[in-house]
Amino acid sequence: MSKRSSFRNRFSFYLLAIGSACGLGNLWRFPYIVGENGGGAFLLLYVFLALTIGMSLLIAELMVGHYTGVSVLAAAKKVSQQTKRKSIVAFGWLSVIISVVTLAYYSVICGWVLHYLTQFLMSLFQKDSTVYLSHMSVTMLQQSGWLQFLLASVHLLISVVIVVKGLGDGVERWITSLLPVFGLLVVVLLIGSLSLESTPEVLRFLFYPDFSKLNWNSLGHAVGHVFFTLSLGFGTMVTFGSYFKKDEEHLPTMGLRVTLIDTLISIVAVLLIFPIAFSMSKQPLTDPSLLFEVLPRFLSSYKGGVIFGLTFFLCLWLAALNASLGLLETITANLVEKKPKLKRSVAASISGLTILLITVFPAFSGTIFKNFKMYGHGLIEIFDSFLINGLLPVAGLGMVIIALTGLPEKDRKDLFISQTSMTSQVMYSHWKIVLMWVLPGIIILGLALQIIGLFFR
Ligand code: TRP
Repeated sequence: MSKRSSFRNRFSFYLLAIGSACGLGNLWRFPYIVGENGGGAFLLLYVFLALTIGMSLLIAELMVGHYTGVSVLAAAKKVSQQTKRKSIVAFGWLSVIISVVTLAYYSVICGWVLHYLTQFLMSLFQKDSTVYLSHMSVTMLQQSGWLQFLLASVHLLISVVIVVKGLGDGVERWITSLLPVFGLLVVVLLIGSLSLESTPEVLRFLFYPDFSKLNWNSLGHAVGHVFFTLSLGFGTMVTFGSYFKKDEEHLPTMGLRVTLIDTLISIVAVLLIFPIAFSMSKQPLTDPSLLFEVLPRFLSSYKGGVIFGLTFFLCLWLAALNASLGLLETITANLVEKKPKLKRSVAASISGLTILLITVFPAFSGTIFKNFKMYGHGLIEIFDSFLINGLLPVAGLGMVIIALTGLPEKDRKDLFISQTSMTSQVMYSHWKIVLMWVLPGIIILGLALQIIGLFFR
């Protein structure tokens, strides 16, 4: 294979993996999870878990895909036949179901981004854009179910069209070419935000670990978010791993790079959002509306902030679209492998329609389903905690079982240790220990503590 084509493939893999890892999880979800769990100590715990269990599972998922050459449902089936353990198939299904529900919920938040994007656009045509933008509020958006549903549908429709037309590659490249713009924007915002008066307080909040601020849920939240942001437990990395050819890239190196980039972006996100949040409301905000409440208000109070806001929300939406494509791609790939007679376009449309139906629940969570409460939490929060902090880690556990029982030791080792890279037998043994003992242990402990927490509220 010529150097060039191999580089091209390798490059597109990084685009796929980084594109699906970096999304709303980093910029929207991470800041409020850190706020909710008291700052520094949680941040430290998160980074530690990302680099240990996150990276190890990422490598394992890629390996399963690369070795079996299929997506997670078919891979789970293969492994269950091999090992004669029927229950393994259930893990495959769990991943796919989680992907479907997550995309429904993700689309609603992408709809919020679209809403702000259009508001910034429209404010350009108003006499006083600051006054116009000051009327925006997430609460209002949450209380208009139809608007949320409409926005989520538009987002989903765009995603389905891109997957049906097989434009994924082109769109990814196009979005990636915008990354420098986004990067520049973030740097300028970061400088602006770090020069606010609140910065010292924020730095103390974020980097001074006060372990007494951790609560029963913190470990589970950290584990759930590591999985969510690195797209683990969804089967996405299995599908991606199945796409590239033998020996094209060294999987542990890929896992390391993707994890590092994703973690770095998350840290930049909190450094960007928290000074703004602290200076606007004197405290770390702790709920999903954080980003959408503070950033637009902050931007619109500056001269030229409207253009800035417009570009920022456009980039944010494109990043989120890229992540949505990753999810839809995974679901479609599984469906096509399950029903080979189905055309890809039909499979993508069926998936899109199913997801749209589920979107009704998060979209109308502030209206029709307002009274649906569990432990005092509304539907969006239940989606968020039950799915991401509860079920996703279980699916991750399933992936570990598939990787450990489905791949013969020799193949696993060959894929891990390569002569041209720096991985060694020692690293391989450590990776295996993390997968076999540390990861299941932490997942189970995180879940157990959350359950105990329910009784000690
Ligand atoms: N990791 C993405 C983010 O941080 C969200 C996500 C979760 C995702 N699972 C996925 C994206 C699967 C693509 C594929 O925003």
